[in-house]
Amino acid sequence: MENKREQWGSNVGFLLAAIGSAVGLGNIWGFPYKMGTSGGFAFLLIYLIFVVFVGFSVMLGEIALGRKFGKGILGTYQAISKKYTWVGLLGLFSSVIILSFYAVLGGIVVKYMGAFFLEMLKKGGAFNNMSSNEYFGTFIMNANGMLLYFFIFLAVTALVVMGGIKNGIEKFSKIGMPALFVILIIIIVRSVTLPGAQAGLAFMFKPDFAKFQEIGFFNIIKSAAQQMFFSLSLGVGCIMTYGSYLSKKENIEKNALIIPIADTAMALMAGLAVMPAVGAFAGVVEGISFNAGPGLLFITLHTVFLQGMGGFMGAAFGFLFYFLVFIAALSSSVSLFEVPATFVADKMIEKSKKPNRKKITLGVMTLVFVIGSPVALDGLGGGNLIDRNFFFGRWGFLDFYDLLSEGIFMPLGALIMSVLIGWRLKTGYIKNEIEIDGHKMKAYHFWTFCFKFIVPLSMIVVLYAQLRAFGIL
Ligand code: TRP
Repeated sequence: MENKREQWGSNVGFLLAAIGSAVGLGNIWGFPYKMGTSGGFAFLLIYLIFVVFVGFSVMLGEIALGRKFGKGILGTYQAISKKYTWVGLLGLFSSVIILSFYAVLGGIVVKYMGAFFLEMLKKGGAFNNMSSNEYFGTFIMNANGMLLYFFIFLAVTALVVMGGIKNGIEKFSKIGMPALFVILIIIIVRSVTLPGAQAGLAFMFKPDFAKFQEIGFFNIIKSAAQQMFFSLSLGVGCIMTYGSYLSKKENIEKNALIIPIADTAMALMAGLAVMPAVGAFAGVVEGISFNAGPGLLFITLHTVFLQGMGGFMGAAFGFLFYFLVFIAALSSSVSLFEVPATFVADKMIEKSKKPNRKKITLGVMTLVFVIGSPVALDGLGGGNLIDRNFFFGRWGFLDFYDLLSEGIFMPLGALIMSVLIGWRLKTGYIKNEIEIDGHKMKAYHFWTFCFKFIVPLSMIVVLYAQLRAFGIL
């Protein structure tokens, strides 16, 4: 191969990779419990409004910008003007930060997957008689174990990325995504047919507008917007990077519509897989309740499989479920990893050098391992080898990295992008790229309206709410 950039083998390949990026821990873990605790159907409505007015338009903008210049996030902003280098850097930095904690969590998923497999072979083979709380608490305080599984997850991610766009990421997505879908259906069927499953459906869907008052409307808006951004992989250049490998023949508008629809459908389906199973045992088995919040993935569900369902089938469904989460998390971390990888590859091509994927991947992996290690070493913020309140006496690494990226850099990146394209460079810029393939841009007026007004406005609201949550404003 010469010093040319790669391309996706097909539009379906691009779509599966992009949906793979979007569907991840955010859908399976975050969405169901946030929806349940923040007003059920009422929260879903707000979430959907954000998907339609903000998610779709930012998605479209990112794909179009990426494809226009055929560069990753830093290259794209530099191509617009050298002045905007820092905006690209912001995205690059965020992608590395998010990957650093995401891969630590992915490592724990690998650990659970392996443990349920052993449990399947022999009862008590992995968990002895430990309660879910004990098991999780012991593991996150085991510094060597945390580092080892973080490393394993990161190495598998690197292995996929090393294969390149078409032979690595696309190939993996074409097998992984259909597999994920099938497993999800199997788990939904098991989950909703458990006696008592309705309680979970009620928890997740029952509209509860009173929650808006209780939690505060501002906080609901913030949490819906952040969840939407995180779930759609927006604001850090993931989608832009994937878009930069898309052929000029493909229809961007259609793609920008399909990805959010698929992601939202998968989030709701994940809710159907998880919540009815929790509902079936809530109040029946000790330690299972809806109020676990972030404890849902590693504690509540662990109890559901082990105590609730129990026996061989419980262990088997546990294994299947964590395998599903593993594929979902892996396809997301691959997309985060590709952001810095593309940046380096583009730089090499600019210098007329042939990008060496192997070297690039090992370099990115080392960097992420260094930045992510403290997340593993402070016991996810519980405090272990590193103090639990390392940042300003208030946050551990996981929370701080998350706040920095999801709370500040992502909305800031989207705000700058929308103001830059919507107001300074004018929206015709994007229209031209979208119509290059001969399709007429149907949503031009709708999109312009969203991009000029709704996106900047909602990003300002999110940033304001976030700074208030920090106690800065
Ligand atoms: N969207 C993924 C999830 O829901 C995570 C993810 C991948 C992401 N790429 C991203 C989040 C870019 C923010 C930005 O789990």
